[in-house]
Amino acid sequence: MPAPRPGYVLVAEKEIAARVAELGRAITRDYGETNLVLVGVLQGAIPFVADLMRALPIDLTVDFLRASSYGSGTTSSGTVHLAADLSVDIADRHVLIVDDIVDTGHTLAALKRELEARRPRSVRTCVLLDKTGRREIEVTIDYVGFTIPNVFVVGYGLDYDGLYRNLPHVATLEGI
Ligand code: IMP
Ligand code: MG
Repeated sequence: MPAPRPGYVLVAEKEIAARVAELGRAITRDYGETNLVLVGVLQGAIPFVADLMRALPIDLTVDFLRASSYGSGTTSSGTVHLAADLSVDIADRHVLIVDDIVDTGHTLAALKRELEARRPRSVRTCVLLDKTGRREIEVTIDYVGFTIPNVFVVGYGLDYDGLYRNLPHVATLEGI
């Protein structure tokens, strides 16, 4: 069996750039003068955080954490733990968690719960892609780039087996 390869472009580079600019304006409007902590979820959120932070002309701190769900494959198992933690204290800070995609919702729900326990002033969530049809747990997503159908996607941070994160667009995966 040949290895799965990227298929057709689902979200083009230009569409991503335009949407990131819009999200940047919405977030800037909502947070105004408040100093923000952008929390990127490694590794998938790297390109999104890099672009989004440059669309936010406000005072902010960027930090990252790594979440890993037990088990492997193309779905999340429901148990999430922190494989790498933040380096800043978020107590009394406004936090915006930024991730590549919300699928079942387990990852973001668990991360939100974990960060809320640290007594921040607020915790909101922002994802580039939302597979609404796959949700298993309710979690509020405050900022969504694109709602997509239930297809496995790669590119712009999203991987299949560690590959294709470097594509500048979001593509389907063929051959799984
Ligand atoms: P959730 O916990 O099911 O919401 O899954 C979130 C994580 O699963 C994301 O941060 C991704 O790492 C991964 N994931 C979910 N769907 C996809 C996909 O279509 N392509 C690549 N990774 C995905
Ligand atoms: Mg991820």
